[in-house]
Amino acid sequence: MIQLDVSNATGFLPEDWLTSRTERLEQARGWLENGSGAGGSFTGWVHLPRDYDKEEFARIRCVAKKIQSDSQALVVVGIGGSYLGARAVIELLKSPNYNLKKKDTPDIFFAGNGLSTDALLEIIDLVKDRDFSVNVISKSGTTTEPAVAFRIFKNLLEEKYGKEEARRRIYATTDAHKGALKGLADSEGYETFVVPDAVGGRYSVLTAVGLLPIAVAGIDLEKLMEGAAQAMEALSVPGMDNPAWQYAAARHALYTLGKRTEILVGYEPAFRFFAEWWKQLYGESEGKDGKGLFPASVEFTADLHSMGQYIQQGERLMFESVVRFAESLGSFTIPHDPDNVDGLNFLSGKPLSFVAEQAMRGTLLAHVDGGVPNLVIQAARRDEHTVGELIYFFEYSCGLSGYLLEVNPFDQPGVEAYKKNMYALLGKPGYEAQKAELEARLGH
Ligand code: PA5
Repeated sequence: MIQLDVSNATGFLPEDWLTSRTERLEQARGWLENGSGAGGSFTGWVHLPRDYDKEEFARIRCVAKKIQSDSQALVVVGIGGSYLGARAVIELLKSPNYNLKKKDTPDIFFAGNGLSTDALLEIIDLVKDRDFSVNVISKSGTTTEPAVAFRIFKNLLEEKYGKEEARRRIYATTDAHKGALKGLADSEGYETFVVPDAVGGRYSVLTAVGLLPIAVAGIDLEKLMEGAAQAMEALSVPGMDNPAWQYAAARHALYTLGKRTEILVGYEPAFRFFAEWWKQLYGESEGKDGKGLFPASVEFTADLHSMGQYIQQGERLMFESVVRFAESLGSFTIPHDPDNVDGLNFLSGKPLSFVAEQAMRGTLLAHVDGGVPNLVIQAARRDEHTVGELIYFFEYSCGLSGYLLEVNPFDQPGVEAYKKNMYALLGKPGYEAQKAELEARLGH
């Protein structure tokens, strides 16, 4: 199970950093377990690893097999919580170079997560001459970015295969009852999967939202869910040994001491999108009512040669949460060089992982000495089970943290502001007054 090492943060914390919060953590735990706190109708993810829809789960695996057999590529159309989880898990468990690897599963392209014309054209170019399918994912069914991208890929499929076959290659993951995508899927007869009512976008990776693309990439869903279920059991137990309680309490205590930025540190390039997923989870859950840690991320050792300077000596406003996997998946030994021009023969015969371990230990001490508390999240080997645990650990800790901060961790009212302005400027019917006002402010 995930463990948290707080020993490199305690020098910055008061002695009662955990004990003074246990009563509120116990209360927050109850709110999560019973869905009785703020935003409680969106706590369907809490028992999801046990109570997930088994029939749909089996169908996801069937459809993934079909896509693997009839498609060389899958285009996953979605944004935010309807995108980041799948990409995070696929990159962490397969590779950021997944599409470049020799494999018997389809390439996976992510579209509709922005409005870049060039990015869209590139994906069209990469799939148009190959057999491909589309998984369009939108809980609301009305989000502009994926809706625009889906129009384009739907047309592409229809031109390539005709309407009938295109229908068989489109899979819609959306609300069970409502929304434009649900209406379209019903009228066109697409195979559909459900985003449960009680699960918000950023907590949805273990629903069909994440699971279908993850299964298409050949990842073992059972093991992923088993890992999450084990974490669910372990983290529901109240007490100061609970790593989710420790993480939530430590980050809240550091926040109240003025450490306003949390940097999630990974040492694996494959971890980059997991950090993006984490940033959405914490940023959207806590950043409201004028409060919240700013979630940032770095990839070490690469970023030690860039952001490392700031972390060591810049404004003392951050702490680091380091995710550490116990073992590498493979091994590599540093070769001997008879000329030793680079002076590295003192390392020959040593595994690269040994060098990485010392870099990590040295960095941790340097940053702590520089005034940056470090929390270390210890995970086992980078496999399905561990990633399932990690997902649940961060989700559960996020719920606890949000309640400690006294915000609703399950809404995101701030996301609407840009949408309203964008709709107005685009001339969406109903936004005429705002359009005139915004254009006057913009000067044209
Ligand atoms: O976490 C969230 O709720 C958001 O990031 C949404 O997932 C994102 O805006 C996409 O929404 P939808 O799935 O409705 O298209």
